[in-house]
Amino acid sequence: MPGWNATHIPDQSGRTAVVTGANGGIGYITARELARRGASVVLACRSAARGKAAEIRLRAEVPGAEVEFIALDLADLASVREFTHELSRRFAAAGSAITAAAAHPGYASTNLHAGATQDGGTLYARGVALANDVVAQPATGGALPTLYAATAPGVGQDAFVGPRFGWRGAPVRSWRAKWTLDDKSGERLWAASEKLTGVSYASLPR
Ligand SMILES: NC(=O)c1ccc[n+]([C@@H]2O[C@H](COP(=O)([O-])OP(=O)(O)OC[C@H]3O[C@@H](n4cnc5c(N)ncnc54)[C@H](OP(=O)(O)O)[C@@H]3O)[C@@H](O)[C@H]2O)c1
Repeated sequence: MPGWNATHIPDQSGRTAVVTGANGGIGYITARELARRGASVVLACRSAARGKAAEIRLRAEVPGAEVEFIALDLADLASVREFTHELSRRFAAAGSAITAAAAHPGYASTNLHAGATQDGGTLYARGVALANDVVAQPATGGALPTLYAATAPGVGQDAFVGPRFGWRGAPVRSWRAKWTLDDKSGERLWAASEKLTGVSYASLPR
């Protein structure tokens, strides 16, 4: 029996999805499939030109899609702060109760490896290109764990989703290292993130 795929995404009408890195690769597929199922989708991209182009492409692929582009450079903390402020304003306005779940794509053949394959002559570049052709799944497969975590019923708090065979396959609950469940490490990571970003979430209970 085939596993969970994008056709299993339940109706997303009334939901808003913010997808980062949404102008290409896994992010674009994620945004497109959520829009196809009725979600209002925000494409958060660092390049206005690429973000707008993705918006146009998505509207062409999903006629009637509710989609908008917002500028967000994840490497620029000022841009992240501006974006976070807008996001929290929207959450507050919507009276949102948010579920936190994580997903990993396994190994997907996207632009991520373009740098490695650019110099096609080296053994390393040929190895990566071969692995992309033989081992990796396409971006449509790499997007499925994210889509599953965001939309499948009963995913629940703190779920971690990935491809069945680690690098490829239908999305399932993924194996996770024990240390990722260690509360003390979590608290240290949270504190370091607050310090480095200058964003504090004091209103969240520990
Ligand atoms: N493909 C895999 O096998 C694999 C495996 C494990 C994890 N991942 C993770 O999955 C995510 C998506 O990867 P992908 O394979 O879809 O890669 P991709 O095809 O290279 O797409 C990456 C996307 O992220 C955007 N981006 C890069 N830096 C950004 C920044 N500073 N601010 C905002 N957007 C930025 C890119 O936009 P630009 O067009 O502006 O560059 C692009 O839209 C990445 O976090 C990657 O590390 C992928």
